[in-house]
Amino acid sequence: MGAPTGHRILEAAEADPEATEAARKLFMGPVDFVKGVVALDGLPAPDRPEVCFAGRSNVGKSSLINALTNRKGLARASNTPGRTQEINFFALGGLDEAGAPQGPGYLVDLPGYGYAEAPKAKVAAWQSLIRAYLAGRVTLSRVFVLIDARHGVKPADHALMDELDRAAVVFQAVLTKADKPKKAERAGLVPRVAADLSRHPAAYPELIVTSSETGEGIPLLRATIGSLMDR
Ligand code: GTP
Ligand code: MG
Repeated sequence: MGAPTGHRILEAAEADPEATEAARKLFMGPVDFVKGVVALDGLPAPDRPEVCFAGRSNVGKSSLINALTNRKGLARASNTPGRTQEINFFALGGLDEAGAPQGPGYLVDLPGYGYAEAPKAKVAAWQSLIRAYLAGRVTLSRVFVLIDARHGVKPADHALMDELDRAAVVFQAVLTKADKPKKAERAGLVPRVAADLSRHPAAYPELIVTSSETGEGIPLLRATIGSLMDR
């Protein structure tokens, strides 16, 4: 159960039915794209809580936002790694006619890391933007670090988690593509990832298993985000 010095990470239990239903309503209501940010001075005013989705290229960040909001093309998902190149803000609760956010918070889609094919200078620019955002955004309630269920925690993930540890920014692991592993492999998945996470002091003690294909874990993740914004 993890390294002796680490803390214990478990699969999150289902949220209570009321919280789940409230979150379902929130996510099924209006959600609008706000803007794609390429520099820190372009960030929206830090006037409401937000959660962001980080992870390696192609892990399924954009697909997860689409599954959460039940909209196919809200966040641009694709087979081409490196699709998302800006910090994309979505307003839960939508925008009014003047473009002002109406709801309780933002969902934030980040560019992926670990994509070797992108031009080096471009990668360096994204990385420094993302790093500054993650460490310095006062309204960032939680970072969800997405981990592909087939691949587990990779060195690039540990590198991000090390940075979050140093900046004391709490992150919660979300396994993606849970529809992919065979039944026999599934049982070992959570304990293996949990052991890898347990050495990170900033890791939230519960992880969430999801599939954007089958909808597994989506109500629980909605409820988790809903509770972070309901403050
Ligand atoms: P970047 O923006 O490039 O960093 O990628 P991303 O993390 O946003 O990944 P994206 O959502 O674009 O998905 C990458 C690929 O994985 C797409 O082909 C998706 O259809 C696929 N995918 C995403 N989620 C799932 C899932 O839950 N199950 C399965 N089987 N495929 C998925
Ligand atoms: Mg993306």
